[in-house]
Amino acid sequence: MNAAKPKPKVVFEAVAKDFERRGEALRVLDPIDLVVREGEFVCLLGPSGCGKSTLLSIAGGFEPPTAGRVLIDGEPVSAPSPRRVFVFQEYGIFPWASVWDNVALGLRALSKEQQYERIQATIDLVGLTGFEKSYPMELSGGMKQRVGVARALAVAPDVIYMDEPFGALDSLTRLTMRAELIRIWQTRRPTILFVTHDVDESIQLADRVVVFSPRPGRIAGIVEVGLPHPRDLGSSRYGEIKNELYELLGVRHAI
Ligand SMILES: Nc1ncnc2c1ncn2[C@@H]1O[C@H](COP(=O)(O)OP(=O)(O)OP(=O)(O)O)[C@@H](O)[C@H]1O
Ligand SMILES: [Mg+2]
Repeated sequence: MNAAKPKPKVVFEAVAKDFERRGEALRVLDPIDLVVREGEFVCLLGPSGCGKSTLLSIAGGFEPPTAGRVLIDGEPVSAPSPRRVFVFQEYGIFPWASVWDNVALGLRALSKEQQYERIQATIDLVGLTGFEKSYPMELSGGMKQRVGVARALAVAPDVIYMDEPFGALDSLTRLTMRAELIRIWQTRRPTILFVTHDVDESIQLADRVVVFSPRPGRIAGIVEVGLPHPRDLGSSRYGEIKNELYELLGVRHAI
């Protein structure tokens, strides 16, 4: 008998999106159906312009779909909520605020004592202990991105949307950040939807990789990664998954 599957957390029901361009409708997303389960780490992989960021904005309640709906815990999403947070490529942190104050921003509803505990624990979790009083300009790119991740985690969200959060970092720092993100995800088990156009990044992070076609975005295929963490980047299964993803993206024999 199968073990009970975690329950659906984020459900896309025939979510479609048109934008208007020069008076005409531009179809960005063809109807998308997708069920992301509680605690799952899903990567959305696809070429530039296929609608990945748009789909996240819809799931976050920032952008209405043209058709269909997104359900979270069975409830239709209609507006942003602190239960669901974003981490963007460009850090999204305030240059005029210290690391501590950046992390504190979403916590005003808590008592001073609770805030203090939560902020310190989160800063420790992302490895920024000792830099509480530093300002973003005094930090490296990787550290700034850790502040962005800390700010998102501090509010104890149950869904985290990440839109190419490590895109601006060098390749070694990206590897470190991915490892740290997996460690944090294993500790807290939020549901994560992570957008990337990096095939390796998706295989290193995801339970499942959802591959999108070029605009209008459609799901070209879903690949179950099924490798335990820490992942062996040189294993034959890793190579097979990479080939599958290149195939779905239509770039396996592109060069
Ligand atoms: N607010 C908007 N108004 C009009 N068109 C938009 C708007 N936002 C996005 N688009 C268009 O929708 C399409 C998809 O954009 P989106 O940003 O979702 O793509 P993406 O997959 O995230 O691309 P990238 O990988 O480059 O970030 C693009 O053609 C873009 O021009
Ligand atoms: Mg984008």
